[in-house]
Amino acid sequence: MKTVVMDDDKIDQIVNKYQGDAGSLIQILLDIQKEHHWLSKEVLEKVNKELQTPLPLSKLQHIASFYKAFSLMPKGRHEVQICMGTACYVQGAPRILAAVEEMLGIKPGETDTELKFSLETVNCLGYGAPGPVMIVDGNYYSNMTPDKAKDILKNYD
Ligand code: FES
Repeated sequence: MKTVVMDDDKIDQIVNKYQGDAGSLIQILLDIQKEHHWLSKEVLEKVNKELQTPLPLSKLQHIASFYKAFSLMPKGRHEVQICMGTACYVQGAPRILAAVEEMLGIKPGETDTELKFSLETVNCLGYGAPGPVMIVDGNYYSNMTPDKAKDILKNYD
């Protein structure tokens, strides 16, 4: 997997937006997660250095591993979720998952080598529309078929 380094200027900009206030740490990390899709040790160290009052690095790592919104592993630019809840399952979710796995070359919990897509399975999201349901970057797609799912993913750069 190639190493991806976040631009230092971008980190500075985000930290400065919150005046380097350690009280805004979660917001700072959320902004970085949104931009970079994961929090590497290097990024956490850099953020910490930029804070007006740096904290023990272990505290940042604890926060980053505690909240589900943060990822300490590289993530793709796009998050693909396939619902495996009962309703979606009986309507063919396993076939959707198999098609997406085949297209992206990854299994749930993995990210492709280009850091384009991360794949996950999720439980029922109570979407209330006909399944199977696939979610990409928070956009819900219902009534999935394997071909439809592949076509949708082709539209993501
Ligand atoms: S089972 Fe898939 S949204 Fe409920």
